[in-house]
Amino acid sequence: MVIYDSSKRVFKLDTENTSYVMGVTEEGYLGNIYYGKKADTTDLMYAMRIDEHPFTPAKLPGEKIGFMDRFPSEYPFDGTGDFHGNCINIRNHKGQEGLELKVQSHNIYTGKRKINGMPSARGEGTMSLDIVLSDKAVGAEVILTYTVYEECDIITRSARAVNVSDKEFYITKALSACLNLETDVSDILSLHGSWARERHIQRSKINYGSYVIESLRGEPGHQDHPFIALLSENCNKESGDVYAMNLVYSGNFIARVQKDQFDRVRASIGINPEHFCWKLEGGQEFEMPEVIMQYTCKGTNGMTNNFHNFFRKYILPPRWTDAERPVLINNWEATYFDFNDDKLVQIAEEASKLGIEMLVMDDGWFGHRNLDNSSLGDWYVNEEKIKGGLKKLVDRVNALGMKFGIWFEPEMISPDSDLYREHPEWALALDGREPGLCRTQYVLDFSRHEVVDYIYSRLYEILKSANIEYVKWDMNRPLAEAASLSLPADRQGEVLHRHVLALYELQERLVTDFPDLLLENCSGGGARFDAGMLYYSPQIWCSDNADPVERLMIQEGTHLIYPLSTTGTHVADSPNHVNGRVTPFDTRADVALTGTFGYELDVTRIAEEERNLIPAQIEKYKKYRHLVQTGDYYRIASFRENGRYDSYMVVSKDKDKAVLIYVQVVTDSNVLTKKLKLYGLAPDKKYNIDGVEYLGSTLMNVGYIMKPLRGDFQSVVVEINPAE
Ligand code: DGJ
Repeated sequence: MVIYDSSKRVFKLDTENTSYVMGVTEEGYLGNIYYGKKADTTDLMYAMRIDEHPFTPAKLPGEKIGFMDRFPSEYPFDGTGDFHGNCINIRNHKGQEGLELKVQSHNIYTGKRKINGMPSARGEGTMSLDIVLSDKAVGAEVILTYTVYEECDIITRSARAVNVSDKEFYITKALSACLNLETDVSDILSLHGSWARERHIQRSKINYGSYVIESLRGEPGHQDHPFIALLSENCNKESGDVYAMNLVYSGNFIARVQKDQFDRVRASIGINPEHFCWKLEGGQEFEMPEVIMQYTCKGTNGMTNNFHNFFRKYILPPRWTDAERPVLINNWEATYFDFNDDKLVQIAEEASKLGIEMLVMDDGWFGHRNLDNSSLGDWYVNEEKIKGGLKKLVDRVNALGMKFGIWFEPEMISPDSDLYREHPEWALALDGREPGLCRTQYVLDFSRHEVVDYIYSRLYEILKSANIEYVKWDMNRPLAEAASLSLPADRQGEVLHRHVLALYELQERLVTDFPDLLLENCSGGGARFDAGMLYYSPQIWCSDNADPVERLMIQEGTHLIYPLSTTGTHVADSPNHVNGRVTPFDTRADVALTGTFGYELDVTRIAEEERNLIPAQIEKYKKYRHLVQTGDYYRIASFRENGRYDSYMVVSKDKDKAVLIYVQVVTDSNVLTKKLKLYGLAPDKKYNIDGVEYLGSTLMNVGYIMKPLRGDFQSVVVEINPAE
């Protein structure tokens, strides 16, 4: 529900349990008044404390700059006195900077406007508000759009800047959203990592000054994540305040939290202004990516539930959200580059007997690529490896009753490739300097449309040539020296954002032309696991590290925001190829259960006793697949916090059934067995666990006693059924 109370000059956006409130001052400035539990009235202007301000311009015009410094601006602008983290900055054709945005009009409507060229949440059944802010001197308008997703307690926000003058100007900063909170928040929750160690949860204190999470890598990266949550001091898994923002964007981002001299906390998020400058001609507009924002008083599990419900209903491709994903086997860790058609078919033959449903041919099938140092861009099948061509191989795999999937890395070009020899100007490069290599590859200049079209035509040809039902879209280096040899000087600051727009365009074309294709994104593991990519691909390869112990922490952080069904999770070899840890085969499978289950090993070469376990593992996955895909996820205990064990559960929406996963990472001698407090069950329903009846409230308040396990790295999957 969206209301504008003109008598109070107040906008109120209500979800089922929350209200977001803004007010317009006499002078026309748009201020943030309140975000939190549902407010029953629009009579809230008092909370902006405008009369308290000794500097209100209408009363004291001589103190306007002091007012700007203190005003809780809804969409702060740069250069005219708001000295805190601003959202927008424009340099006019004379090189001057400074904006003053005032409310010009607004519009409340049902449904939602789609953001041009970028992914955004779908808007069925929603209500939206556009507020037009304008600066007449600069000739700029900014339209703020809010959409209310009532049942998920989520509001999405985006902004677009329009040049309404007849002269060009340059947008040097364009953040999507900002929140002004007061001292009821004290902590920041964010995700941090590295290659093979993505999205570990981090909680830090908010102090005076600024705290920045950002990426300058051209993608979110393994290191930081376009998400930030502000928490009350007492916030834990089950209760406490959480204000969260997640950016639907797959490039450079910034999330900034600042505690100022008024004890106010301002958090903003959007495209990183570094290496960014967008030229806007008169009449043109610039769209900023969407932010998914929420408040909950139900702690981090409450935040997670809201995000999961929202992603499943409004972001993930509807074709795949509830569809069963095939159990796949990927040959990367099985063979690396050392494979040919016969070897793949041997793996497929064995895999099909074990119940695996799809073979994915990873890197190395094209050009003359036998190592990671050549052929990116030459998207032609290497017939020395795949004799008789792709169709023949796919037909052989299909004849075994298995589907076939293929790997691409479309954004890249190897210096040793026919494409580079023909078009060296197609790589991003600084004039007069040899571009730097990473994994012996360059990045294609996607600001050139002919490059994007060419790459798409190759993907299209390959996918049309055989019955290919799955694509793994990889991206294995960050963007650096992001300059285009074709753009003019005053558009070089557009290159990084243009890359992201072209990536979205390519994936949109792909899923439109191949509507049944299952697309899995990937970036050297999980460097581009974000809401933008999830709009096109229902699953993303979570990490190159499939060690079940490290995966516990990677998956805990990932599942804090994203539904379980989005995480690519495979059972890999032991000792693990990344960290050398030796773990039991069934523990690896149990940890992979809460994702898109698959195998990343050579089934023809593993020990027979392990191979024999695979059919039962697949059966177990299939038993819980629907529950994992559709249920509510709750974190029970975290190995990251306690250093001993990890536990989480998924409860069906009707609260009839649940599954609990427990991993004892480190064994303890002579201690009590673990008592786990469960979540999300119906308090008055009776449940059956291993033949014993419990009341839901007992399991949630008193707890469930985990049976004793012997040894490190042991896991149990506990089935919770309704009692007869
Ligand atoms: C990085 C991915 O994360 C791996 O799974 C694999 O596809 C390699 N790239 C291939 O180069």
